[in-house]
Amino acid sequence: MDAPLIDPFQRAISYLRVSVTDRCDFRCVYCMSENMQFLPKKELLTLEELDRMCSTFVGLGVRKLRITGGEPLVRRDIMTFFHRMGRHLDTGAMDELTLTTNGSQLHRFADDLYAAGVRRVNISLDTLDEAKFARVTRWGRLPQVLKGIDAAQRAGLRVKINTVALKGFNEDELFDLVSWCADRDMDLTFIEVMPMGDLGNEDRVGQYWSLKDLRSQLADRYTLTDTPRRSGGPARYARIEETGQDIGFITPLTHNFCESCNRVRLTCTGELYMCLGQEDMADLRAPLRQSTDNRVLEEAIRAAISLKPKGHDFDYSRQEVAGQMSRHMSHTGG
Ligand code: GTP
Ligand code: 5AD
Ligand code: SF4
Repeated sequence: MDAPLIDPFQRAISYLRVSVTDRCDFRCVYCMSENMQFLPKKELLTLEELDRMCSTFVGLGVRKLRITGGEPLVRRDIMTFFHRMGRHLDTGAMDELTLTTNGSQLHRFADDLYAAGVRRVNISLDTLDEAKFARVTRWGRLPQVLKGIDAAQRAGLRVKINTVALKGFNEDELFDLVSWCADRDMDLTFIEVMPMGDLGNEDRVGQYWSLKDLRSQLADRYTLTDTPRRSGGPARYARIEETGQDIGFITPLTHNFCESCNRVRLTCTGELYMCLGQEDMADLRAPLRQSTDNRVLEEAIRAAISLKPKGHDFDYSRQEVAGQMSRHMSHTGG
């Protein structure tokens, strides 16, 4: 293998998140506006180009590939891409091929994902209440997602539920979510809401529920012990001794984890974002198309990594939003 990708802060980049589409069949309030303008299809990298792009990263030391969106499973023929990426698991070049999904299409694809080599999926779910689910996703329907979760488990996929902590929205469901996941043997990770996208009428400071507070509510009822478990992402885990369950905490606001960042994100048009919370981006589509020789692309990737910023500037501590990003979360897939 060539020299691995090391950024200016000596962080090795081993995790690539790839947003394969900016489209989604939901419109979650903290992710998209109601009327999104989506990219024309001709702007997208083809599946063959995505393959070349990802495989080049794998050649440079990326060992974990997470497919995101938008909603990755709404891209046409996406299973072909998963199957192709599975070859890097077979050769041992990659440790994990996985995805983050809203679950709406999992009933169709769960078995096929397993066949492609996926063993774990992260599914976004913020509430177990049908009416609230419809409100937060605007277009989503809970029963369809629950059907997808069933299908994933039946297919043998390990499920992790991602729940964005939202004040006045799912605070009252904290213990229900924890025991629902325990009963179904699913992992659960809470995420602090980040200021992404045009806030419009959304009140991000008012929505923000700190995971310090969430954790202390859990600790009032259960014995929590920090564990050394790592999933390769930003979550830190604590075990609930009474149930044996691990709860993940993703805390960009209360505990910045940028010093251990190991990831970059590729969009469906071939832009490489070096940090979720900064504008810095490099176009990889032009070098990809410029030559069939991958060295041109590799040079562009190395140049981009050499510009990876130290971290985000998200902050709500003065009762106002700082470090906000104008692009929507769906642009980079989180
Ligand atoms: P695991 O492999 O299970 O650890 O998943 P993951 O946490 O890496 O991926 P997932 O797609 O489930 O992301 C969960 C949340 O973490 C999303 O809200 C992401 O936006 C957020 N996240 C992932 N990477 C970063 C990051 O580098 N910075 C920040 N601030 N948030 C991140
Ligand atoms: N802040 C925190 N998490 C978010 N997600 C989407 N938008 C935001 C935001 N503004 C989450 C989704 C999904 C993951 C990819 O990102 O719920 O689980
Ligand atoms: Fe779609 Fe996920 Fe964004 Fe919701 S958070 S709109 S499900 S991409």
